[in-house]
Amino acid sequence: MRVHASLHCAALIGATAVPVSVQVDLARGLPGFFLVGLPDAACIDARVRVVTAVRNAGWELPHKRVTVNLAPGDVRKEGAGFDLAIALALLQAANLIAPAEGPTLVMGELSLSGDVLPVRGVLPSALLARKLGIGRIIVPELNGPEGALVEGLQVDAVRTLADAAHVFSGDLSVPPSPAAPQQSADTMLDLSDVRGQGSCKRALEIAAAGGHSALLVGPPGAGKTMLARRMPGLLPAPTFEEAVESTSVWSVAGRLGARQGLLTERPFRAPHHTISVAGLVGGGSPPRPGEVSLAHNGLLFLDELPEFGRAALEALRQPLEDGEVAVVRARGAALLPSRFMLIAAMNPCPCGYEGEPRCQCTVLEKQRYRRRVSGPILDRIDLHVEAQALKPAELAGMPSGDSSAAVRARVERARELQGQRFHGIRGVFANAQLRGRTLRELCRATTDARAKLTDVMERLGLSARAHDRVLRLARTAADLEGHPTVESKHVLEVVQYRCLDRPVEGRPAPPVPSIHLARDAALRAVPPDAPSGAIPEVT
Ligand SMILES: Nc1ncnc2c1ncn2[C@@H]1O[C@H](COP(=O)(O)OP(=O)(O)OP(=O)(O)O)[C@@H](O)[C@H]1O
Ligand SMILES: [Mg+2]
Repeated sequence: MRVHASLHCAALIGATAVPVSVQVDLARGLPGFFLVGLPDAACIDARVRVVTAVRNAGWELPHKRVTVNLAPGDVRKEGAGFDLAIALALLQAANLIAPAEGPTLVMGELSLSGDVLPVRGVLPSALLARKLGIGRIIVPELNGPEGALVEGLQVDAVRTLADAAHVFSGDLSVPPSPAAPQQSADTMLDLSDVRGQGSCKRALEIAAAGGHSALLVGPPGAGKTMLARRMPGLLPAPTFEEAVESTSVWSVAGRLGARQGLLTERPFRAPHHTISVAGLVGGGSPPRPGEVSLAHNGLLFLDELPEFGRAALEALRQPLEDGEVAVVRARGAALLPSRFMLIAAMNPCPCGYEGEPRCQCTVLEKQRYRRRVSGPILDRIDLHVEAQALKPAELAGMPSGDSSAAVRARVERARELQGQRFHGIRGVFANAQLRGRTLRELCRATTDARAKLTDVMERLGLSARAHDRVLRLARTAADLEGHPTVESKHVLEVVQYRCLDRPVEGRPAPPVPSIHLARDAALRAVPPDAPSGAIPEVT
């Protein structure tokens, strides 16, 4: 049996595209349409869409037995993105259109009237085409700007099957897709809008500088959500490679808007606490990237952290640790990138006013509330900061503190230093990823700083794990000052950003570790000559 026509297409596995060859055979015999090669239900429906669209576009198909194979047969083909490639291969096999000049990758869904509808994953498919040396792709018009991001590739964005056929055979040329409009950064919220909260702002600067995750704890209306929303403005602009990575994930998730090109800003995702496990980390059928992947190279903000489902929070462990998440599929698992900074916010107790006379929460209620966020999750969040209730005078006063641009400039300098330090080390992009031996080797501390660290850990009764975390944070504080070595002042500052650390076992502990108690203990551990501004205000 002779294969009459064959075309390049692509299937998606996780956030990457893999090559698929669309082969069409026409044979004599009882007319029929067979589609093989592990198609899912949406893909197999291509039979109906293609035949109808071809007929409605004005072509008469021969009365033959059509067999379409999507090779390789062991890769699952999901969705309707193969329609256009099948239709063009079929028209070519039936000698209704001339073959393409050079290798061409085709993708697009067909409507029954013959319109080409947008599909997911054009950017990764375009990257694949370039990698394979395929010089041209034909994509839906609305996906044109996405494909045009890949340099050195001819992108023909088409609106209808008829146009696609003419472009395919070289009878028609379409104008190149216009570059997508750049989003402007000045719509960003500014940090100086937030009154007071000096230690939170400083903690977020450290978080941005070292890529650390942060948890803001405080009463309602203290400005936690406000602060978190200003976090993207503190981060350096994404590099082109980072932007392409994030855009690829969004493309695969079908979240890129029509005619949208590169995501020029870091993603900021703030899912509601009712989100499912699959919604948060990815999954479902067909598997889609979750919020952790949509936040790749950006921020994931979990407001009201204890309200999130336990299973959803636990599922965060792997992506937080590895920077990627395995989404289980019918055949094996697909890895999706998920290198994000987690910013979380919560109240200190169910009513939110712990430590104030109006707080009526019982010890049991507080315990239950806190335990909703498990130890392992808290362990993976480097900074725990207390946001204090705002005094009326502070709220009425003028905006204070540095602008986001000023903080970002410092953050960029600190990141540059880290870039130089981590050059060539796999999987380490910022201080937050430092673990074990690499941490100890790269975070050199003065003898005095080491002694202070041991002393403070003892006094606060913190675990060995907390020790590493403090060292990582101190490294970032030192980077912000451009210091090659961690000094004791850096240790003394960052040890205060651990207001939820639980005392280690065997030591007398309060029934519910109160953030006020922890802060007071930190204050006692910090000598009076510690750097000013590093000590949190006590009301
Ligand atoms: N530090 C602040 N500076 C300026 N405005 C503030 C500040 N804190 C709160 N506000 C005002 O109060 C509103 C609510 O703040 P926000 O939502 O950030 O509080 P929250 O700490 O997240 O509270 P909740 O615990 O209820 O979620 C803000 O929209 C803002 O108008
Ligand atoms: Mg809030």
